[in-house]
Amino acid sequence: MQEKYIDETKQGEAYASAEKPENTKKLFLESYGCQMNFSDSEIVASILNDEGYNTTLNVEEADLILLNTCSIREKAEQTVRNRLSSFNHLKKNKPSLTVGVLGCMAERLKTKFLEEEHLVDLVVGPDAYRDLPNLLKEIEDGKDAINVILSKEETYADISPVRLGGNGVTAFVTITRGCDNMCTFCVVPFTRGRERSRDPHSILEECKELWNNGYKEVTLLGQNVDSYLWYGGGPKKDFDKASDLQKATALRFAQLLEMVAKELPGLRIRFATSNPQDMSLDVFRMMTKYPNICKYVHLPVQSGSNNMLKAMNRQHTREEYLELVKQAKAIVPEIAFSQDLIAGFCGETEEDHQDTLSLMREVEYDYGYMFAYSERPGTPAHKKMEDNVPPEVKKRRLQEIIELQNELSLKRMKTYVGKNHEVLIEGTSKKNENQWKARNTQNAVVVFDKMEGQNIGDLVTVHVYDCTQGTLLGKTV
Ligand code: SAH
Ligand code: F3S
Repeated sequence: MQEKYIDETKQGEAYASAEKPENTKKLFLESYGCQMNFSDSEIVASILNDEGYNTTLNVEEADLILLNTCSIREKAEQTVRNRLSSFNHLKKNKPSLTVGVLGCMAERLKTKFLEEEHLVDLVVGPDAYRDLPNLLKEIEDGKDAINVILSKEETYADISPVRLGGNGVTAFVTITRGCDNMCTFCVVPFTRGRERSRDPHSILEECKELWNNGYKEVTLLGQNVDSYLWYGGGPKKDFDKASDLQKATALRFAQLLEMVAKELPGLRIRFATSNPQDMSLDVFRMMTKYPNICKYVHLPVQSGSNNMLKAMNRQHTREEYLELVKQAKAIVPEIAFSQDLIAGFCGETEEDHQDTLSLMREVEYDYGYMFAYSERPGTPAHKKMEDNVPPEVKKRRLQEIIELQNELSLKRMKTYVGKNHEVLIEGTSKKNENQWKARNTQNAVVVFDKMEGQNIGDLVTVHVYDCTQGTLLGKTV
């Protein structure tokens, strides 16, 4: 239904786009993991576009191969290592080929990468992409190159991303980078650094540019969008030291949403990811005030048990989470929620697991991203807690969570049947070329027969007459 994480068992996705005709070198760029990586790859493509590289989907013809990697779970890292091995024969045939690793694995493993993976010439962390041209020159001089310095300021605000392989209708716009939350299981604060917000004017400019280029929907991206804060520069943690004027004129997430929604009323706006402790009810009020703000929130919970939430250093209780959901539904009755959940975190009992299932039933999520806990080196959980839920128990609990989510998804989808929905056409359905694939405001996928005069990017009204667990079936009204 919603493609937020690329299934780690599959290959990453390589994207390409038409770029500068005068460029002669070829870049093969493949992304793994979260939306942020896909968005960062567009910045990387833009930087390298100015250095003579156009992207290609054919790895055989590449002069430069870059993998934008994910560290979130062990399996994600293994997938990347396997992929790297598959490039060995290319390098043998073409010694001038450069292979680089970007993103979270680069940041986590640093120079170890160059030692462990002999194929790799280049290691670049998420805040160092501006340095790519210099690093590539070092490689031309016969050296390995690495830059994994994390920044408190870098937001790539001034770089206009090259849109890669998308549908020309929906795009990601990064609004914050990094994360300060320090959930004990999570590697992100170590691989992506401190949280920082991007200048709102550059965000608005990017959205306008997208709109002018025919895009119809943006997803504002960050690890924790609700803690967005702009007060004229400086990291969030220094807000206390800001002047009175800076404090009075500070812009928070709800206002940023309003700014974009008001300025571009034809553009649909989504956002991800939300954190319960930072979410303000103003965000839900904006959804009712501006119809172009989609009525859908990805609100990870991780566990329904207070014991686990505490051990995970989540900044909210089960009760606070449920209260937020209740208030949101009161303000926006047709709102949809999705979750992230972890099964089998350190010390999780059967009772904790039951709490997760009961919380899921209470919220009635439309969709979810569910994972078995995977211990990550260097995280607080790895240092201080024992990964003591046996793998088969993790697996069984995860299975129960997934089965329940399937049940809830179907239940939610059924509530959409028999009603008219305004949907955005994203492209042709994968299963039937005579049908469109579109999404309603709740982010549910709707397929329906194409009609004369309809085009990709159109907002049309469809009547939903049936559904499966993942898809609504509709008819143009
Ligand atoms: N705030 C982020 C979360 C990134 S990680 C966002 O923008 O989505 C995405 C999800 O991966 C988390 O919500 C969590 O459910 C899961 N996750 C993180 N670390 C994990 C680990 N060590 N094992 C299993 N799942 C994990
Ligand atoms: Fe990770 Fe928690 Fe931040 S899950 S990305 S530390 S909000």
